[in-house]
Parts: sequence; C-alpha cells; structure tokens
Amino acid sequence: MGGKLLYEGKAKKIFETGHPYEVEVYFKDDATAFNGAKKGQINSKGILNNAISSLFFELLEANGVKSHYLKRIDERSMLVKKLKIIQIEVVVRNIAAGSLSKRIGWPEGKALPSPVVEFYYKDDDLGDPLINDYHVAAMGLATPEELAWLAAESLRVNAILRDHLLARKVKLVDFKLEFGKSDEELLLGDEISPDTCRFWDSETNLRLDKDRFRRDMGGVEEAYQEMYDRLKG
Ligand code: TMP
Ligand code: ASP
Repeated sequence: MGGKLLYEGKAKKIFETGHPYEVEVYFKDDATAFNGAKKGQINSKGILNNAISSLFFELLEANGVKSHYLKRIDERSMLVKKLKIIQIEVVVRNIAAGSLSKRIGWPEGKALPSPVVEFYYKDDDLGDPLINDYHVAAMGLATPEELAWLAAESLRVNAILRDHLLARKVKLVDFKLEFGKSDEELLLGDEISPDTCRFWDSETNLRLDKDRFRRDMGGVEEAYQEMYDRLKG
C-alpha cells in the first residue's frame, strides 16, 4: 500500500494507510529468540504467519471475539484497526512447557489440570518479566476490571482455538496474546501464529512452532507450512 512506516518490530512492520484509524501490518521473515539475542530468518515465515493469523482472527470473529483484524491485503500484509497497545502480554497455558516448566519444575508435556493465565510486562529492555495483578495495578498498566476482562477473554480465545486445533490434530500447548484500545474499546491485537503459540502434533507431539528455531531443531519452515496446511484444511 506504500504508506509511511510507523513502527518496525522484530517480526513485523506497521505502515500508515490513507485512513487515520487503520494501519497495515507487514509480516517479515526475520525471526528472533531470547529477547533478540538469537537472530535469523525463516523462509516464507511472513507469508505463512500472515495467512495463519488471518485464519485465526476470522475464526475468532465468527465466535464473537473482537480483534483489530479487518482483512488480508496481500501475501504479507493485513489491514487492522490502529490500537493503543496495553503493555501486558497475556500467556495462556494448557500443557507445561518453556518458561513454566523451568519456573515450577513440571516436565514439558505434563498437562495442566486447568488452563493457567500469566501476565508479562511488555518491555524488551527488561526482557518481558512475569508480573501479577498487583504489579499491573501499581504500575497502572490496566484497571482491575480491564485485567479481569483480558484474562477472561484470553480463556475464551483458548477454548475456541483449542477445539479448532484439536480437530486438526494439533494440541494447543500455550500462546501469547496482546490487546489494545481502539477509541475506548478493548480489542485483541498483534498476531496469532507459530511465532506466538506452541503447537504440537496431537499424536506424535512433533513441534510445529517457533521452538524449532529457538532450539535449533531444524525443519522450521516445514513446521510453519504444515500448520498452515492443517488450518486451511
Ligand atoms: P514461554 O514458555 O517462553 O514463556 O512462552 C509462552 C508462550 O508465549 C509460547 O507459546 C511462546 C509465546 N511467546 C511469545 O509470543 N513471545 C515471547 O517473547 C515469548 C518469550 C513467548
Ligand atoms: N519475542 C522473543 C524475542 O524477542 C522471541 C520468542 O522467544 O518468541 O526474541
């Protein structure tokens, strides 16, 4: 679309459009891990993450979850509502893995009896530290009502995605969401992709997500492609 670059992140660029309340999200092939300490490229990741995120946002919208998503523009870009991002990353977990396994000592793959919701302070300089509702209140990141809504909405997203994925032989291990405000309305934002979720094959536990890049497991591009193929159906 060729508007002015507003912001460049690690995996995406945000461009102005002709409309003040809409922006274009462009998905790059750049991949980082460990807060940018590990850098690389995943061939076609931008195309696949744009396609996968679009499918997820459309699925969520059909199930009554409001997001910034308006439409897919082309292979690497989507049109979204401009959001004022809340500086909280919400992680929902169904199965122990990653930093939770390190924190509580549960082996990766051990099912959690009920979903666990976590909040992280979205601040790269601090490495996105884990915070709780008291930190959120003290730091003024969200009101108690907003935080309760973020948690409830994230659990609703979890239930929708979990069922949809299981029907496609994928376990939703965990994922990260971001939210923001358009006017005063809270909307789901950012992306939902193998960069921001853990997806395991439901029979073999084969990892179909960015852990393949983080942990140098190989077959990264193939995993993203496999996720797209399963979702597209
Ligand atoms: P974690 O186990 O490393 O805390 O990750 C939990 C989930 O959050 C996992 O699905 C990957 C996602 N995630 C992001 O989207 N961005 C990040 O910077 C990190 C660390 C995790
Ligand atoms: N967001 C992390 C980074 O900045 C990557 C990740 O582990 O997903 O490097």
